[in-house]
Amino acid sequence: MANLHPFGEALWVADGPVCSFYGFPYPTRMAVIRLENGDLFVWSPISLDDELRAAVDGLGRVGHLVEPNALHHLFLPDWIKAYPDARTYAPPGLKNKRRDIRFDVELGETADPAWAGQIDQIALKGSVALTELFFFHRRSRTALICDSIQSFPRDWFKGWRGLLARLDGIVQPGIGAPREWRLSFLNRKIARTAVERLLALAPDRVVLAHSASAEQNGTDLIRRGFAWLLR
Ligand SMILES: [Fe+2]
Repeated sequence: MANLHPFGEALWVADGPVCSFYGFPYPTRMAVIRLENGDLFVWSPISLDDELRAAVDGLGRVGHLVEPNALHHLFLPDWIKAYPDARTYAPPGLKNKRRDIRFDVELGETADPAWAGQIDQIALKGSVALTELFFFHRRSRTALICDSIQSFPRDWFKGWRGLLARLDGIVQPGIGAPREWRLSFLNRKIARTAVERLLALAPDRVVLAHSASAEQNGTDLIRRGFAWLLR
């Protein structure tokens, strides 16, 4: 299942199995960034098997296991077991939700010292439901965006789930965060500021956790994904 492949300079992505989120099938994707000291920054780790593990080990030492929002945590315990020396990072809300997982660091609004200067870190706040962290890898000019931009092929979800997903605005030509999450942004100004900060970094590429990534025109994808917030 290991399909770890280069996506940008010092950046790789791998697609994992489809997971069920309240019965909705969600494909999964992770990213790996090699930091200047050779340590690997692992973003949103997917299901770990021997093949993926060997592929990751071939890139460097797993130093940092990073979850971008509190909905992403399913596979982290396996990674901690496999890489007990790696530091673990919790997005807002996850440490309380998964008290059984050891987290070394809670992610804040500024880049952790381990990757400051190489990866920018921006908190998408303003929602009463969920805070997500954006990351921007300077060397590959790539933004990592977890759940706040989704756009599935028209026939991806079947039956009533397809209908709900269309209403949610996450089926093509729709793009963005699911409708109920959009509605939970009571402080739109602070959220807009976060997106504008990300846009100001002018990402060329965008890795999305569940939908098609962009290898070019990254800012265009971000603008479309957050049109509901920016306009
Ligand atoms: Fe997700």
